[in-house]
Amino acid sequence: MKEHFKIEDGHLLIGGVDTVKLAEKYGTPLYVTDEKRIRERARKFKRAFPSAELLYAAKANWNISILRIMAEEGFGADVFSDGELYAALLAGIQKEKILFNGNSKSPRELKMALEADVKISIDSEDELITLAEMADKEIEVSFRVNPNISVKTHPKIATGLRESKFGIPAEEATSIYEKAIRLDNIRPIGIHCHIGSQILDISPYRETIERMMDLVAKLTEIGIDIKFVDVGGGLGISYSGEKERRPSDLASLILPIFERRCEEIGIKPILVLEPGRYLVADSTILLTRVNAVKKAYKNFVAVDAGFNIFIRPAMYEAYHEIAIANKMNEEAEETYTVVGPICETGDILGRDRKLPKVKRGDLLAIFDTGAYGFSMSSQYNGRPRPAEILVNDGSDEVIRYGEEYSDLIVKMNLPARLM
Ligand code: LLP
Repeated sequence: MKEHFKIEDGHLLIGGVDTVKLAEKYGTPLYVTDEKRIRERARKFKRAFPSAELLYAAKANWNISILRIMAEEGFGADVFSDGELYAALLAGIQKEKILFNGNSKSPRELKMALEADVKISIDSEDELITLAEMADKEIEVSFRVNPNISVKTHPKIATGLRESKFGIPAEEATSIYEKAIRLDNIRPIGIHCHIGSQILDISPYRETIERMMDLVAKLTEIGIDIKFVDVGGGLGISYSGEKERRPSDLASLILPIFERRCEEIGIKPILVLEPGRYLVADSTILLTRVNAVKKAYKNFVAVDAGFNIFIRPAMYEAYHEIAIANKMNEEAEETYTVVGPICETGDILGRDRKLPKVKRGDLLAIFDTGAYGFSMSSQYNGRPRPAEILVNDGSDEVIRYGEEYSDLIVKMNLPARLM
């Protein structure tokens, strides 16, 4: 268990608040986030990269309170959709510190980015053309390049491989910049890549920054003034006791190469990073109540949180630690498979977990759910999404109210002939 958790009277505490009480007060399932933990992680990143521009990857968790905390910590935002841009601006993230990413931006999204006056990272030649047709003044852009780098992570979240859908192949990068400078309303000032997510072996960043700087050298030769080099996010966290690499480890790897290459080329661009998971993942637990314990082919523990609100185990076979929040001092005795209430066999939150004896009514805590947890939730199976609570040094506040049944149908329409 990490430092921001405590145990008192056999109960799990987060941010100084008893999870059993939280579950009673707000109901379950319930996402609970420790504000202090997010700030600590954000500051670690800042300290490691004091002169870099840090853009929080909003997709990890774009609750506006979380975005607001990031803004207060001096972060900008990497947004991947119009909705994320909307939320980031609302949360007070400065427009100068927002980069609009995305491999398939719609004209509507591009228009919004132009109106909001944020930087855009272009992902294809077609996007360049659409943008040039739309822009009525000169706009500053970067291009997302696919550096063809392999990282050890789940294949669904390795984004920098040649075969992935993201970015412009590195070999074609120079020619797209050349096309861009011929357009009188497009000014390329940056270069961007993102090699993947949940990266614990950080060595591929070395090759990544080298390849990016090779390109920067070529771009400088053809007269392009590169003002920022964005190497994306990806720093992983420890979900099951793996050794976590710190932002300072990443900095020791990237910065010397970046600085040396900049000096060789004779330019002074800003380094940009886009961490998401590292900042928010371990700040949050998902509390879920046991509805039934069933001895069948396996010992099943059926809880009230399903993959609609937490999809990582089902989607990436991700491991998330699970504990009985009201029995923290009891010894693990039996092996259980924790399943949700969704009508699919794959709705498994944890396989074959050793836990103290589980009983109906127990409260489970699923750890490290702050990144790509709530942000990937849905109402599948007609399940209202749960509340999100922010705890801080013993206090607890709602940062998103739990949905009601009416939220399930609020945007539905019954045509008159069906009435
Ligand atoms: N920048 C770009 C352009 C990205 O596509 C991503 C994540 C990030 C930054 C942030 O990466 P992070 O630091 O969070 O690793 N839903 C998956 C993760 C998808 C990540 C997609 N891109 C999961 O739950 O593991």
